[in-house]
Parts: sequence; C-alpha cells; structure tokens
Amino acid sequence: MTASFPAPAWLVGCGNMAGAMVDGWRAGGAGFSGVTVIRPSGTPVDGIPTVTDYPDERPRFVMLGFKPQKLDEAAPALAPHIGPDTTVVSMLAGITAAHLRERFPLARAIVRIMPNLPVAQVQGVIAIYSPDGDIEQLAEVRQLMASLGMIAWCETEDELGVVGAVAAAGIAYVARFVDALAKGGETLGLRPGMAEQVAIQTLVGTGAYAADTAQSMAEIARRVASPKGTTERGLAVLDASDGLQPLVDRTLAAAIRRGHELAADAVRRD
Ligand SMILES: NC(=O)c1ccc[n+]([C@@H]2O[C@H](COP(=O)([O-])OP(=O)(O)OC[C@H]3O[C@@H](n4cnc5c(N)ncnc54)[C@H](OP(=O)(O)O)[C@@H]3O)[C@@H](O)[C@H]2O)c1
Repeated sequence: MTASFPAPAWLVGCGNMAGAMVDGWRAGGAGFSGVTVIRPSGTPVDGIPTVTDYPDERPRFVMLGFKPQKLDEAAPALAPHIGPDTTVVSMLAGITAAHLRERFPLARAIVRIMPNLPVAQVQGVIAIYSPDGDIEQLAEVRQLMASLGMIAWCETEDELGVVGAVAAAGIAYVARFVDALAKGGETLGLRPGMAEQVAIQTLVGTGAYAADTAQSMAEIARRVASPKGTTERGLAVLDASDGLQPLVDRTLAAAIRRGHELAADAVRRD
C-alpha cells in the first residue's frame, strides 16, 4: 500500500526513528509533496524540504520525532500552529495522550505511536493508541503506519507501552541475545567474525522461516529439538525456572518502569 500524507504535514525532529520511517515510506513509494521536516540542525533529509523553524502554515499532520526530554523545549513554539484540523502523532516514549492534549489543546486528534526500527525495511511493528475515537484522521494515520509494517492497535496506553517494550526496545534485546550466541560460539572456539556472521544469519533465517511457514516459535523450537538430542538439552537450560523467561520478564519490567519515570518527569516539569 502506498502511503500518502495529509498536507501540509510536518515531521518535527527526524533522527534515528523518524528517519527510519521516512526511509520506509520512501521504499514504499510514498510521495513527500506537502511534507516538511523541522529540526534544529537543519540537516537535510533527502527529497523533503528541511527547515529549522516552523513554516507559516497550519499543518494537518504533525509527527513529533524528538526525545521525550525535548517536549518542554519544542512545545511552546509549536502549539500555536496546532489547530482543530491538526492531527498530532507522537512517538515520545512515556508521554501520555493526556499530557500531549494539555500541550496541544486545540488538536483535532492526539495519536500515540510506538514504532520499531525495521520500519525502514517496511517490516516494522507500529503500536498505535488514540483516545480520540475512530475519526477520519485516525484512518489517515492508520494508512501511513500500515505502509511501514504491522500495526498493533492498542486499547490502552499501558498496552502501547508493553508493545513498545516488546517490539521497539525488543530489537535491542534480540540483538543482545544474538550477540550472546556469537560470544558463546567464540568461547567454544569459533573465530570472532565468523561467530557473529553465523549468529546474525541464524536470526535472519529464523525470521524468514517463521514468516514463510507461519509456524509459532514454540513449533519451530520443537521442530529443531529432536527428543533427547542436543538442542533439547540446551533448551532445558533456557527453560529452567531461573532461565530465559524470568530474565526477559525483568528486562521488560525495567523498560516499562522507565516509561513511567519519563511520564512522571514530564508532568513534574509543567
Ligand atoms: N530509536 C528507537 O528505536 C525508538 C523507538 C520508538 C520510539 N522512539 C522515540 O523516538 C523519539 C526520537 O528518538 P530517536 O532515537 O530518533 O532520537 P534522535 O536520533 O536523537 O533524534 C531526535 C531528533 O529530534 C530533533 N530535535 C531535537 N530537539 C528538537 C526540538 N526542540 N524541536 C524539534 N526537533 C528537535 C533532532 O534534531 P537534529 O537532528 O537537528 O539534532 C533529531 O532530529 C523518542 O521520543 C523516542 O522515544 C525511538
């Protein structure tokens, strides 16, 4: 599906994450007519006019792509441009819709998203939450995000936070696990470069196999682990009561707690 932007559309901040989304939209053939990037450095974004100050127009679509800690800095100058025709889409981790509504009281709709980096390859997971009903603006946001991968439409902000921990932060956790596989291979005698390549290709292959066969991860693990074989012996370590699951549970809980801290900080600064 080719995405199209409601114009005028502003991308406010365009670093790692918003830049990855732009890459994904570009890969999917989206046109950027009517889109402007606004960022303090003015660093150009290929094919999109990039400026350091807000244009003299009323945007219909504004995507906030800066760090949550920058909301105080950005909101006062931005708010006067946000009117009843503007949908504000925020990727700011931990900043609630209610808090954004206080900052942008006239906005037609406040939408929170939580994308992950493979949006650049149109293989992303994009969590979406909005308290503002199923209005036309949400359909516009939905088609823009659906063109970047899989949409996880959330019924609560807590749900959005959890999808963020699993899918957005989860990229880093999966990366760490693959690194650990590579380091484990090195410890057992593989050359370092080879260990890393083998571990990464194992990740890529597992993803491709799962996507192609539509098997669950449990089924895939069962298929690899023959009874009383080598894989089964390894899985017993991961599956022990003090194995992988409690570690992942603690990891996700720490990320969620940090989201709550960021939200509390944002409220305290008001
Ligand atoms: N990285 C992820 O995987 C990920 C996943 C989900 C959500 N997020 C969310 O994405 C947001 C951005 O993260 P990131 O990793 O992309 O950060 P980043 O690479 O540091 O990019 C931040 C962007 O914000 C711009 N900026 C800074 N101050 C600004 C201001 N006052 N007004 C407008 N723009 C401003 C920067 O402009 P310059 O380039 O000109 O300096 C830069 O383009 C965060 O809120 C984060 O919670 C990130």
